[in-house]
Amino acid sequence: MTNKIDLVDLDSKLQQEPPQAILEQALSQNQNIALSFSGAEDVVLVDMASKISADIQVFCLDTGRLHRETYEYLEKVRQHYDLTLEILFPEAEAVSKLVSEKGLFSFYNDNHQECCGVRKVGPLRKKLLQLDAWVTGQRRDQSPGTRAAIPVVQLDRSFARPGATLLKYNPLANWSSQQVWGYIRSHNVPYNPLHDRGFASIGCAPCTKSIGPGQHEREGRWWWEEATKKECGLHATNIDK
Ligand code: ADX
Ligand code: SF4
Repeated sequence: MTNKIDLVDLDSKLQQEPPQAILEQALSQNQNIALSFSGAEDVVLVDMASKISADIQVFCLDTGRLHRETYEYLEKVRQHYDLTLEILFPEAEAVSKLVSEKGLFSFYNDNHQECCGVRKVGPLRKKLLQLDAWVTGQRRDQSPGTRAAIPVVQLDRSFARPGATLLKYNPLANWSSQQVWGYIRSHNVPYNPLHDRGFASIGCAPCTKSIGPGQHEREGRWWWEEATKKECGLHATNIDK
């Protein structure tokens, strides 16, 4: 599936499909494919995929700055689904250099890109070099500023190996938060307890806060920055247009 026209066709076909059918297509058409799991409500994809195949690849980027609740939750999910949950770490030397030179909270002063670059994007890049396709829990309703137009399937040019094709599937693109939570409740899916404490979107502890009524979920992420900058580089394709 390298042809751009084919991909546009496939995307428009999959736009009509529920997430389960999109996942089925993705898992059956790509041998070397993995789900990226953040430890938040994207667990619905782990649940759906585990019902399609007993042998799914799932990875999580451990930035070293996740909430304790998220670590406990990751363990819960690993056990619940009997998964091999691959935990990816940043390069120790790069983290050490950053925090030794700029301190542990530099992102509050000079934005989050550098720290996210070291703790998330570097390890993701390394992982994606081994894959033909990856799956994310991104949704259009998560961020009017950056995700309003994400396709269900797209070419990921930011992380592809030179000369190779990397596909990126966003099976939840057209689902609302309400649909995701409807699925979690009706299928008894274990969820991160931070959600019950007002955390609508969950990232690293120092860069995520709970939100109040009427606030958009993205307002709890990197709240000191503008809405259009609230991508950490994992989804660079959303802003590099
Ligand atoms: S972020 O780029 O702002 O941090 P967000 O939290 O909205 O992303 O999550 C969107 C999707 O990105 C998740 O459903 C997941 O697929 C992927 N993702 C985000 N953070 C991680 C992580 N720490 N490990 C693995 N995947 C992640
Ligand atoms: Fe660093 Fe915050 Fe990005 Fe986590 S979200 S990698 S702590 S800047």
